[in-house]
Amino acid sequence: MIDTDTLPLRKPADVSHPIHDLISERWSPRAFADRPVEREKLYSILEAARWAASAGNQQPWHFIIATKENADDHERLVATLWDRNVLWAKYAPVLILVVAKLYDRPGKEYTSFYDTGMAVGNLVTQAVDLGLVTHQMGGFDADKARETLGIPEGYQPLAMIALGYPGTPDVLPDDLRERELAPRSRKPLEEFVFEGRWEQSVLAR
Ligand SMILES: Cc1cc2nc3c(=O)[nH]c(=O)nc-3n(C[C@H](O)[C@H](O)[C@H](O)COP(=O)(O)O)c2cc1C
Repeated sequence: MIDTDTLPLRKPADVSHPIHDLISERWSPRAFADRPVEREKLYSILEAARWAASAGNQQPWHFIIATKENADDHERLVATLWDRNVLWAKYAPVLILVVAKLYDRPGKEYTSFYDTGMAVGNLVTQAVDLGLVTHQMGGFDADKARETLGIPEGYQPLAMIALGYPGTPDVLPDDLRERELAPRSRKPLEEFVFEGRWEQSVLAR
């Protein structure tokens, strides 16, 4: 686990039950340091994704990575993002497009989304351990990504991930800086955990 004292901004989860630091320290900043991510670290976070569980060990996840050092690749990924994400994500030294192979068993197509989410869960957690931050984005044009990146039928682009070292919020425009500094919040356990049957409340306080 990295030295949290050196981070420009921490927003640890305000937990009601104890959890691992790697989970509580993860959050989704928009400010990135102007510093490349070492290849070994990039491969480690992808290796963490590799070891996720999946239905029948089918491992449906794919990742298209682009680093700022390869400006054309990076710009091609940036060009698929919605404008409000481009504003800040274009400064991330690494962009990762998450793509799921759709399982071909009828009715099971969506299980590959579940499995790919598991892999991304590993990826973002490993990033925390390496002192890196991630910000996932659904705000991108999947059809454009499919076209400009040559993604074949049977594969679904699901999300873009901005990855890098954390930056200071001062680099952001006012509205984004405000969101960067805003507290993180979650629904209480009672709202999404039931005991025994649907809507039977669990008292986890
Ligand atoms: C699938 C997914 C899509 C998201 N899409 C966007 C997005 O397009 N733009 C954005 O700024 N944040 C996006 N986020 C980030 C969420 O807003 C963020 O994870 C959430 O507010 C919780 O904050 P935290 O990650 O700091 O705990 C997305 C997150 C996920 C998991």
